[in-house]
Amino acid sequence: MFESSRWWRSAAIYQVYPRSFADANGDGIGDLAGVRSRLGYLRDLGVDAIWFSPWYPSPMADAGYDVADYRDIDPAFGTLAEAEELIAQAHALGLRVIIDIVPNHCSDAHPWFREAVAAGPGSAARELFWFRDGRGEHGELPPNNWTSIFGGPAWTRVPDGQWYLHLFAPQQPDLNWGNTKVREEFEDILRFWFDRGVDGVRIDSAALCTKDPELRDLPESGEPEVPHPYSDRDETHEIYRGWRRIADSYIPQRALIGEIWLPDTERFVMYLRPDELHTAFNFDLLAAPWDATAFHASIDATLAAHAPVGAPATWVLSNHDVFRHVTRYGRQDTSFTHDHDHRRRQTGAPTDVALGTRRARAAVLLSLALPGSAYVYQGEELGLGEVEDIPDHQRQDPLFARTGGANPGRDGCRVPLPWSGDEPPFGFSPPDAIAPPWLPQPASWRSLTVEAQQGDPDSMLELYRSALHIRRGLPALGDGSMRWLVSPPDVLAFERAPHFVCVLNMSTVDVPLPEHESVLIASVPLRDGLLPPDAAVWLRTS
Ligand code: GLC
Ligand code: CA
Repeated sequence: MFESSRWWRSAAIYQVYPRSFADANGDGIGDLAGVRSRLGYLRDLGVDAIWFSPWYPSPMADAGYDVADYRDIDPAFGTLAEAEELIAQAHALGLRVIIDIVPNHCSDAHPWFREAVAAGPGSAARELFWFRDGRGEHGELPPNNWTSIFGGPAWTRVPDGQWYLHLFAPQQPDLNWGNTKVREEFEDILRFWFDRGVDGVRIDSAALCTKDPELRDLPESGEPEVPHPYSDRDETHEIYRGWRRIADSYIPQRALIGEIWLPDTERFVMYLRPDELHTAFNFDLLAAPWDATAFHASIDATLAAHAPVGAPATWVLSNHDVFRHVTRYGRQDTSFTHDHDHRRRQTGAPTDVALGTRRARAAVLLSLALPGSAYVYQGEELGLGEVEDIPDHQRQDPLFARTGGANPGRDGCRVPLPWSGDEPPFGFSPPDAIAPPWLPQPASWRSLTVEAQQGDPDSMLELYRSALHIRRGLPALGDGSMRWLVSPPDVLAFERAPHFVCVLNMSTVDVPLPEHESVLIASVPLRDGLLPPDAAVWLRTS
């Protein structure tokens, strides 16, 4: 499956969040040397590709999603030469490399933005961003009523009185994609990395890049009119058509993967038309509550929407922006939304960790069995839960500060990984480290280290390893189609040719399994041949 030139249609892709993966030099921050020393772990895990969250020079106002230089590596992570070595080393181990491209905005430390601020109103440098005069008698009010996705106004004023737009933090000024120079710059950045052997890019906030040139207000209440002034505008597609021409000009062809949060699946899949992106993260299942009807509907809607454009679906349970699913599935409310209030209510809500873990085991067997590619966020293979007791003064996500603490932010899913040992830093940093991990690790993680889990057949890590290895060897899995089987209430069962069935029991009773030759893997032991609740199984059929 991996050998195929269209690997992205089937791949299991592991997300490395570089700050939190492994710290080789002991400053408490993960780095590329740390990743390089653990590439064997990723190969043994059985994934096909690695996606790196941003590794560029950055003031880290939004953990690297504020890029100051798109053609280099942050000194805390390493050097460009090391990144090149890392890419080569990964390839030698049979792992593809995907990097994160952030086109909607750059950092306020990017030379373009610095120049724009210095150059003043009316300058060509300001045309690369969204600078405008304010409203009100003295321009003291923001140019329009848009709010930042991280809370507060979407506009910040510079000393000469003009305002600039930032859909995220003020340190992330939005680029003006109506400007040819912006387009040319990013096409050149793509070539820069593709020339260095990168196999694909994950495109951050891909549906937000283009804006209504009039910057119209959003309605005070109710749904914004269509086209929306800054989300999913038709002009956006032209950007990715240009990128696709570049990706297609390489041998092997490079992959484009969009981060697109859109409630409307029909609009979502427009980005996956044959001359646009290859795949996009499907967040619909991630947002769905642990409920058979909701899962069934989400899978159906996803597959039905993708079919006409011929693009494979993707399956995602966790990433660096959402609650870890061990925690989410152990709560009363198992759904996810980005709504600030929802996140606040969810944080610290009572969690049954054993139940969440049990469901997470079942969920990964589902996500790896569904047609298309699948993502694993670092640490989910260890069964890590959301860390909810990070002291406020250690929280770094701008969501926390920008909402005045109303939204606790995303730090809880970004805590450095536990590799070995009985106490922090759990092998994340070397024994002679000069600083603790950049976010505190819970003492309870001693039982969840890689060292503690490997070789234990009941561990989450061994479940992931086994499932990923089985998936790789089965022609039925990855890209392709599936067919639902008739099943008991609240049980999902589907067949994939040749000879494969997956069953997920979301009911409260043990259920019989469809006819099969053998059990390939089960998330928990079967009971008298029956599949217990909150469990999944892969079957070989005749
Ligand atoms: C994406 C990233 C998120 C970041 C935001 C702004 O949603 O996944 O982490 O904060 O874009 O770049
Ligand atoms: Ca380090």
